[in-house]
Amino acid sequence: MESLETRKKDHIDLAFKSQTGRLEIDDRFHYEPMLAAHPAGGLAPFNFLGREHRLPMWVSSMTGGTKLAGTINRNLARACREFGMGMGLGSCRIILDDDAYFEDFNMRPVIGPDMPLWANLGIAQIEELLDEGKTALAATLVKKLQADGLIIHVNPMQEWFQPEGDVLKYPPLETIKRFMDGFDHPLIVKEVGQGIGPDSLKALLRLPLQAIEFAAFGGTNFARVELLRDERADAALFEPMSYIGEDALSMVESVNNIIASEPPVCKELIISGGVKNFLDGYHLIQKSQLQAIYGMASTFLKYAQEDYQQLHKFVEGQVRGLEMAYAYLTVK
Ligand SMILES: Cc1cc2nc3c(=O)[nH]c(=O)nc-3n(C[C@H](O)[C@H](O)[C@H](O)COP(=O)(O)O)c2cc1C
Repeated sequence: MESLETRKKDHIDLAFKSQTGRLEIDDRFHYEPMLAAHPAGGLAPFNFLGREHRLPMWVSSMTGGTKLAGTINRNLARACREFGMGMGLGSCRIILDDDAYFEDFNMRPVIGPDMPLWANLGIAQIEELLDEGKTALAATLVKKLQADGLIIHVNPMQEWFQPEGDVLKYPPLETIKRFMDGFDHPLIVKEVGQGIGPDSLKALLRLPLQAIEFAAFGGTNFARVELLRDERADAALFEPMSYIGEDALSMVESVNNIIASEPPVCKELIISGGVKNFLDGYHLIQKSQLQAIYGMASTFLKYAQEDYQQLHKFVEGQVRGLEMAYAYLTVK
């Protein structure tokens, strides 16, 4: 323990280094220091996706099928179990009809029986399963992973720019509706980092989906990932398209506007895409009038690639930050 004298001396030295100008203020919040004691006993549990959560955070889908993916998924699933949050698997296409990589995705034994675990397929794959009369494969996937349901990622921009990308034959909304007719498990629909505009959101909110995940613009950008992978000289021509999208805050505002005039059938949101920390997440879920949690992909990925302790420390810090936010911050 440092002595009181050393601490006071540090304070004097560091006071000069700590100066911030008033323009650096994070003006998304009011700070209310008078109205609450320090938080004790953690965050209040709540129900979401039909299960009790202890943390309003979500591990957004990231791909499996590489050697590292098994380690990443196991670390993430372990954190979900320990801290009481849920997880979307990355695209499970690779294990639809071949079990070679099954163990990389087999996270129910790690996450345990209580927290949400969701399978994931792309809209192009769903189109193909429908066209070939093979939708039973998607139900089998959910069952063999002991998943709660299926996330469909809808990524026309990424597919278009991906050199080996799939071509969508039908509007995704039609495909989702056709698929829902014969599928007995709950569904979540998401983008992959470009977000979803107001007309599409309105259409999705009318469907009996378990949730919509934003995967908004502002973080990982798969249109750009594909352009960076593409060695064709004309790739640069499409670059301006990679700045197109919907950010998470404008999506929250869109949903708030839509539900003000039309009660939604789908009642839960996972707000993701460009969320870097608990303050971003707290701000967005407080702004949302629909019940919401926040999701992160690339931020989790940074901490999940090596030993579990790194990830544990990161999530523990997020919990501590969220406790402070709930006690003392209101959203402007
Ligand atoms: C390495 C990586 C792989 C991803 N793979 C998938 C995937 O298989 N399926 C999917 O729905 N989204 C996938 N995503 C998209 C994320 O779920 C998320 O929507 C997107 O990265 C935006 O969140 P972020 O800004 O927090 O990274 C992937 C993201 C990353 C970083």
